[in-house]
Amino acid sequence: MKIQGKVALITGASRGIGRAIALELAQQGIKRIILMARDRQKLAEVATEIEAMGTEVSILAVDLTQTIEVNIAVAQLWRNYGPIHLLVNCAGVAYQNSFLESKLPQVQEEISVNLLGMYNLTSLIARRMASQRQGTIVNVSSLMGKVAAPTMATYSATKFAILGFTQALRRELAEYNIQVKALLPSLTDTDMVRDFKLFRWVIPTTPEKVAQTFVAGLQRDSPEILVGWQSHLAVWCQRFAPWLLEQVLNIATPSAPTKQQPHELLRELTQKLSWLTKFHRVSDLFLSRNTVSLVSARKT
Ligand SMILES: NC(=O)c1ccc[n+]([C@@H]2O[C@H](COP(=O)([O-])OP(=O)(O)OC[C@H]3O[C@@H](n4cnc5c(N)ncnc54)[C@H](OP(=O)(O)O)[C@@H]3O)[C@@H](O)[C@H]2O)c1
Repeated sequence: MKIQGKVALITGASRGIGRAIALELAQQGIKRIILMARDRQKLAEVATEIEAMGTEVSILAVDLTQTIEVNIAVAQLWRNYGPIHLLVNCAGVAYQNSFLESKLPQVQEEISVNLLGMYNLTSLIARRMASQRQGTIVNVSSLMGKVAAPTMATYSATKFAILGFTQALRRELAEYNIQVKALLPSLTDTDMVRDFKLFRWVIPTTPEKVAQTFVAGLQRDSPEILVGWQSHLAVWCQRFAPWLLEQVLNIATPSAPTKQQPHELLRELTQKLSWLTKFHRVSDLFLSRNTVSLVSARKT
């Protein structure tokens, strides 16, 4: 895909990988970029950077999980800025948790944003692209969409699903001259992973490196854009030596972040002991009162 003269819509563009992709596309001379995320202030800051590079830019502050709002926003976008040639589904959320301690609201948020939000926006844009008989859609999955990672069960599930969704759409939309691809970043230094317990030996890359690989991948025909040698190695291992990957994952997996540390266990134990002591004092008082009343009852 040649990006000169094209219009791109990028979700998750307020920070991290989405922001870096927007800046890289501007650098490469795309005509207009529409930045989408919830945080209007951050979107405006990215827009200022892009404008300074001579690219037309618009912002759309909307929550992807609000289907009606997204529907209205897309209709307005298409009216105001004409056809969108490139959709980059980059918005996402991730929680790291031991599965046994996972919380339903977080699970629901991951599924709503990573899957349902992407699904809804893609269907709105793809229908319009189909009537124009041109377009490119890139869904941001992850290396965790290929290699499921312990402590990231729901996130991995959403990223695997994105790959399946991409494969199906790729074949289905080809007859409308719409290309569909997946981008699979490995660990990248962004807000998303700031509080994560990292997998041993995994070296984080930068959002800028992901964005450069993304733009290079746009020019190629391959359905998946892998980022960095670690991703290539992991995917190769999974295909040809899955037993080796299993062993590596066993060693590399961090302990679940919610696992209690010894000092936390000690604090909890002390708290429980102090409650127990209080309970004993109250029951002692209660028993001694009863004893007194028994004694006085005997006397009378
Ligand atoms: N960082 C990594 O190691 C890594 C690795 C592989 C794949 N990825 C994938 O890359 C993509 C970008 O991740 P990142 O690392 O750049 O994360 P990030 O820095 O946390 O950015 C996430 C983006 O998603 C937007 N977003 C979140 N919830 C949203 C919602 N309900 N509606 C609209 N926008 C929403 C955020 O904007 P607002 O908060 O302003 O809404 C933000 O722009 C994700 O799909 C992620 O799964 C990341």
